[in-house]
Amino acid sequence: MNLAALRREPRTTRALESRRRAEASALLSSVAARAAIAVHGTPLLLLDPERVRRQYRHLRTALPFVGLHYAVKALAHDAVLDMLDDAGCGFDVATGEELAMLTRRGVAASRIIHTHPIKKPAEIAEALAAGVRTFVVDNDVEIEKFRGAPSDTRLLVRLAYRSPHAKSDLSSKFGVGPFEAARLVESAHAAGIAVAGFSYHVGSQLDDPTRFATAAADTLELMGILERRLNVQFDTLDIGGGFPASYDSESAAIEDVAAALRPVLEPHARRLDIIAEPGRVMVADAMTLVTSVVGIAERGDGRWYYLDDGLYGSYSNVLTEDVHPLVFAERDLTATPADAANHRWATLGGPTCDSSDVIAREVLLPELEVGDLLVSPTMGAYTTVTATRFNGRPFTPVAVVGRGATTAEVAVASDVRRVPIV
Ligand SMILES: Cc1ncc(COP(=O)(O)O)c(C=O)c1O
Repeated sequence: MNLAALRREPRTTRALESRRRAEASALLSSVAARAAIAVHGTPLLLLDPERVRRQYRHLRTALPFVGLHYAVKALAHDAVLDMLDDAGCGFDVATGEELAMLTRRGVAASRIIHTHPIKKPAEIAEALAAGVRTFVVDNDVEIEKFRGAPSDTRLLVRLAYRSPHAKSDLSSKFGVGPFEAARLVESAHAAGIAVAGFSYHVGSQLDDPTRFATAAADTLELMGILERRLNVQFDTLDIGGGFPASYDSESAAIEDVAAALRPVLEPHARRLDIIAEPGRVMVADAMTLVTSVVGIAERGDGRWYYLDDGLYGSYSNVLTEDVHPLVFAERDLTATPADAANHRWATLGGPTCDSSDVIAREVLLPELEVGDLLVSPTMGAYTTVTATRFNGRPFTPVAVVGRGATTAEVAVASDVRRVPIV
């Protein structure tokens, strides 16, 4: 296969922008969204769990032979977990807290994998007691923690693949190269612990289908070599997450990544349990942030609008991941090209007193007044979960809206209020 042929030309941002505008306009004119904003004001995150289900089905269709385990870390919200549980999706957890969110709602342990390569011994004990059996390791100390674990415990050795094009290259913190991986398999077997196979993460927000394919091909090759050399049989390949979302430019579609992966993986689908841990791609599009202008100033570099959410809150994805969600003025959502004449470039500041709390620069916006609403789509992944309470600001509430919703459910920390829509 000519992998280079799968490289895409960048797609136009204008098409993406008009699609996002139309989606945001439809969402904001919905009864549920209006009710939630009227009751709770801003900032407010609008979560549509139906979009999560759609993405799950989309991935299932594109990669039907891959068992999906949603990476809870991307958006650990009850409505998302309920929706995916109901749809039959598996789950990937990194901590005891994430595991507890699942066991509380009765998700069977057989549908849960624990993929953090470094775990507290007590956390491993709790996960084993809950019935989880699949874990990831990448060093001797971690393997040692599994001595005496139930005999059906299955370890996956985490491999590291450099991914300079991913927004978040995870290979420097976790994972090993092929020689160390071989040594770890031998060392686990010597300790009487079964290694079921390998896992890796190609890096998050990776807009390069070929990298997904080469990582899978390299891992399969390594598995074959080790099976022959060590006279063992592996049964699991975990291809991790990494599928990108379209923030301010069109990223590779699920179909693009699947087209690269399918010819590599499909021939092995009968003999191997092939699983994945998608996070971002499942939830990014499902949540929209609504903020409002709280201050306006003319500075040396032009107009500044100060919003009531920022980098230390829901826009933590800008700070921690260098992704750039689009920001629209609500009054602009249905604007015609003629309206653009009175637009000006502006800087968007967050609400804290920290000078690095700048959401975006050079955003083309109409004249705004204090109280005007702004909207950011693609705010589902790594937003609320990485937000802080810096300056004493509360976490931005999440309102569950969308088709079929009969209430706007607003969760503020542990306080969940249901607001009738009509
Ligand atoms: C082990 C592991 N699995 C899955 C994910 C989810 O990745 P993504 O959101 O890029 O799909 C991550 C993200 O950091 C991860 O560390």
